[in-house]
Amino acid sequence: EKGGYDYFMLKEIAEQPKAVADTLLGRIDASGLLTLDEVRIPASVLREVDKVVIVACGTAYHAGMIAKLAIEHWTRIPCETELASEFRYRDPILDQRTLVIAISQSGETMDTLMALRHAREQGAKVLAVCNTNGSTIPRESDAVLYTHAGPEVAVASTKAFLTQLVACYLVALYLGQVRGTKWGDEIRAVIRELSDIAAAVDTVLETMEPVRALARSLADKNTVLFLGRHVGYPVALEGALKLKELAYMHAEGFAAGELKHGPIALIEEDLPVVVVVPSPRGRSVLHDKIVSNIQEIRARGARTIVIAEEGDEAVVPYADHLIRIPATPTLLQPLVAAVPLQVFACELATARGNEVDQPRNLAKSVTVE
Ligand code: F6R
Repeated sequence: EKGGYDYFMLKEIAEQPKAVADTLLGRIDASGLLTLDEVRIPASVLREVDKVVIVACGTAYHAGMIAKLAIEHWTRIPCETELASEFRYRDPILDQRTLVIAISQSGETMDTLMALRHAREQGAKVLAVCNTNGSTIPRESDAVLYTHAGPEVAVASTKAFLTQLVACYLVALYLGQVRGTKWGDEIRAVIRELSDIAAAVDTVLETMEPVRALARSLADKNTVLFLGRHVGYPVALEGALKLKELAYMHAEGFAAGELKHGPIALIEEDLPVVVVVPSPRGRSVLHDKIVSNIQEIRARGARTIVIAEEGDEAVVPYADHLIRIPATPTLLQPLVAAVPLQVFACELATARGNEVDQPRNLAKSVTVE
């Protein structure tokens, strides 16, 4: 059942390169463009969309936060991402020109289901990004793009998260393709980069032993903080969520730019702080700002755990622990940066004697509001 692994979570982490490749499969035509015929919302409707709203919970919400950045960057359509549990209680502004994307692994999450029902009542079109065939959320949506991650058994979501990201990138590119905001060659280039990600995830998985050793050495800590910016911010939140649910540790993710507005007061001697560093090639301004953040927190005693692209030498002097990830285009970095955080949380849970696949108080699908 567990394919030789001690836990489903370990098996599912290891399956990620294949899951990511499977989510792309059959969705790229011979010319290198997207064929998403399965998205049965007519192109004429997609061309009229003037706002995208993403609703989801937990890990899927973090995927949605990253999807927002991709959608706005590639399509220039305003996009917001909201927690499904908050959405319908604030009288959101929706109409026929709003595209709502509901992201859910299980397809049964009640908060997400109620949010999409509310959106449809207001006339919005709903596209589900879902991993479970024939589940309620896709059945009640106008269309569905399935993430082909295969069954996810461990309560903590891993491969579903990566494939949600891939599916959302495809939706963003497809919107750009249909609306003409993204030219053929640009779309082909991103698709090629996406096709390379499976191999990059594989590379990350092969280099995880030091991350496991680090996790074990932190087993008696009470708190771990996570910092990131841009796409690294949701990755930081996801790293913190994984640690809460699996290791039962106090973990918090912050946008690194917010440090000086409060959280820096938390920094004390030997506090582990994980920092997700943006590529020095892409948004290099953000890269340099994060390097200063690392210096600041280290000067105040933090034990810095730095996740940085291969070849990024600027971080070396300030990293107590350095976790290397392959270079990727900026928007795709979460696909590799999230993986060490999954391994980190899984190993910490094991070291603390916790039940990895079935954390206390949690259920795989949350069918109550
Ligand atoms: C975290 C986790 C949860 C789910 C959330 C949404 O590891 O598994 O936060 O992501 O409950 O579930 P789905 O995606 O099934 O709607």
